[in-house]
Amino acid sequence: MSLPTLFVSGAGGNLGGLVIEALKAKSYAGKIIAGTRDPAKLSGLSGVEVRKADFADKAGLVAALEGVDRFLIVSTDQIGQRLAGHVAAIEAAKQAGVKEIFYTSMPNPEAPSEITFAPEHLGTEDAIKASGIAYTILRMNWYMENMLGSLPGNLKSGQWFTSTQGGKNNYVARIDCARAAAGALLKGAEGKIYTVTGPAALSNGEIAVLATEVTGKPLTVIEITDEQLAGGAKAAGVPDFVIEHFIIPFEQFARSGKAAGNTDAVETLWGEKPQSLKAFLTGHRAALVG
Ligand SMILES: NC(=O)c1ccc[n+]([C@@H]2O[C@H](COP(=O)([O-])OP(=O)(O)OC[C@H]3O[C@@H](n4cnc5c(N)ncnc54)[C@H](OP(=O)(O)O)[C@@H]3O)[C@@H](O)[C@H]2O)c1
Repeated sequence: MSLPTLFVSGAGGNLGGLVIEALKAKSYAGKIIAGTRDPAKLSGLSGVEVRKADFADKAGLVAALEGVDRFLIVSTDQIGQRLAGHVAAIEAAKQAGVKEIFYTSMPNPEAPSEITFAPEHLGTEDAIKASGIAYTILRMNWYMENMLGSLPGNLKSGQWFTSTQGGKNNYVARIDCARAAAGALLKGAEGKIYTVTGPAALSNGEIAVLATEVTGKPLTVIEITDEQLAGGAKAAGVPDFVIEHFIIPFEQFARSGKAAGNTDAVETLWGEKPQSLKAFLTGHRAALVG
């Protein structure tokens, strides 16, 4: 019997690319297909077949999914418009006879949510369940990489303004999310939802201590209100969209405890424990102090 054919969408993106690498690292002997809007970008990729796959082109997607058994839908970056694309991908999968779907969601997307894009993830999960296709949903917690956007500035000023009030996030390295997704693809659909987390939920105060240990730079966490945080960000020139859809909702989400879950999903699906935040920060020391 031949091994299932695997298809990874968004293979031109960070996560999708790492999933392909993780599958290759496990020496998967079946066919791996890398789907992307721009196949030319992946022309140097060896050991996999590259197919054009754009969720905005459903007919093209049905053709791209020909012969595919297991389909990983990497959620797109088209925030605000991605539910339609994800639903098109699920419908195309059904039309093409795909047997199993895997999807990269977010933790606790149920309503009401502080996160303005949570309904897109929940809507996608619901559409997958309604499709009747076997599935595994991977609710990825926030990437450790997200911190590389703000921590260098905090370390430079020595101050970290936050309204999390000690609320915790269990950040997870993107590579560990990719490994969990690859492991899920190799395992096959289980009709299950995994929440994919790092090894420990940490408050911003605890993260600041780690950042100081790694860089030698002092960092003081200063608790303020959402309104003060939004005002400060605006004064610093941060666009309103970013403040309203990312900065404040993420602080509120941490406060709610919904990003603080701790699971062994990475180890269960991939066979190795996820990396710690301290190891991640150590590996990115140059970016933190640069
Ligand atoms: N957990 C977190 O902290 C976190 C942080 C950021 C993002 N995310 C989510 O996780 C996803 C993967 O993260 P990432 O770091 O790999 O993001 P990324 O590098 O920005 O990649 C964006 C992805 O969206 C895909 N995409 C965009 N439009 C598409 C379309 N019309 N049809 C099919 N695919 C489309 C791209 O695929 P191609 O370019 O190959 O076509 C690419 O894989 C993101 O797209 C976002 O939904 C999660």
